[in-house]
Amino acid sequence: MKKYDVKNCKILSAKQITEDIFDFIVYCPDFAPIAKPGQFAHIYVPGKTLRRPISICEIDKENNTLRFVFQIRGDGTRILSEFKEGMELDILAPLGNGFGLKDKEKKALFVGGGIGVPPLLGAAKHYGENATVCVGFRNKGAVILEEDFKNAGCSIKIATDDGSYGYHGLVTKLFEEEKPEIIYACGPTPMLKAVAAFAEKNGIECEISLEERMACGIGACLGCAVKLRNEENEEYMGHVCKDGPVFDYRKVVY
Ligand SMILES: Cc1cc2nc3c(=O)[nH]c(=O)nc-3n(C[C@H](O)[C@H](O)[C@H](O)COP(=O)(O)OP(=O)(O)OC[C@H]3O[C@@H](n4cnc5c(N)ncnc54)[C@H](O)[C@@H]3O)c2cc1C
Ligand code: FES
Repeated sequence: MKKYDVKNCKILSAKQITEDIFDFIVYCPDFAPIAKPGQFAHIYVPGKTLRRPISICEIDKENNTLRFVFQIRGDGTRILSEFKEGMELDILAPLGNGFGLKDKEKKALFVGGGIGVPPLLGAAKHYGENATVCVGFRNKGAVILEEDFKNAGCSIKIATDDGSYGYHGLVTKLFEEEKPEIIYACGPTPMLKAVAAFAEKNGIECEISLEERMACGIGACLGCAVKLRNEENEEYMGHVCKDGPVFDYRKVVY
């Protein structure tokens, strides 16, 4: 079995960016040089047996930092949100396979919903001005990373459920006219299904990142079992943590 590394990593910056979303920059000299967009870290939360999986939002190989953007969902992420600049996080990383990045001249479409948006930033930066990013949120107050995508040169379209910012409606309406050569998506299942249908209809390559409940994070339990499909169209059980979290859309049984 692959050897996994755990390190104490210092938080260089810890910010609250919305009512319940936090943005950490963490010094990870052992992980940043080998991390890829779409991979995740398994973070120890004091008092909890199971680590919490959080995607790597950005990798700065020059400064050896990883960025994590996470939302308070329960006890674990609430405890994590109380960490401050200068404190250390116990991190197991980088885990999972990450996105398959192609020639950066290709036209890439990124589709994200809510807290499914952070894992897309690193990959979108790779394509820069060739990336169109379509993202959906509950309302204006929940919008995150807009400036980050813009600073990376990407075009960004935003939808909100209540119309308080950008397009009033579903994110899936934002990319109907797009003609990308590759698609990357992360977010709620109905959104992923719509993206997969769009990819299928137009014959476009597409990778989706799944966020399943997890336990060990390294393929040693069945905590993240998910139904997949092989090339013969036979269904089998796979692991999101080890086989994913990024999958070719044709592999996933929704
Ligand atoms: C590959 C991957 C990447 C993720 N990236 C991010 C990210 O970048 N930002 C972010 O805000 N969230 C992310 N999540 C979701 C995040 O892991 C959960 O919100 C978090 O584990 C909830 O923990 P909790 O203790 O606050 O909630 P609780 O509900 O109290 O957690 C109880 C248990 O269930 C697990 N669990 C609950 N919800 C999820 C979930 N959606 N996914 C996985 N395990 C869950 C917890 O890890 C814990 O073991 C990711 C999940 C996965 C699998
Ligand atoms: S979380 Fe244990 S196998 Fe994936």
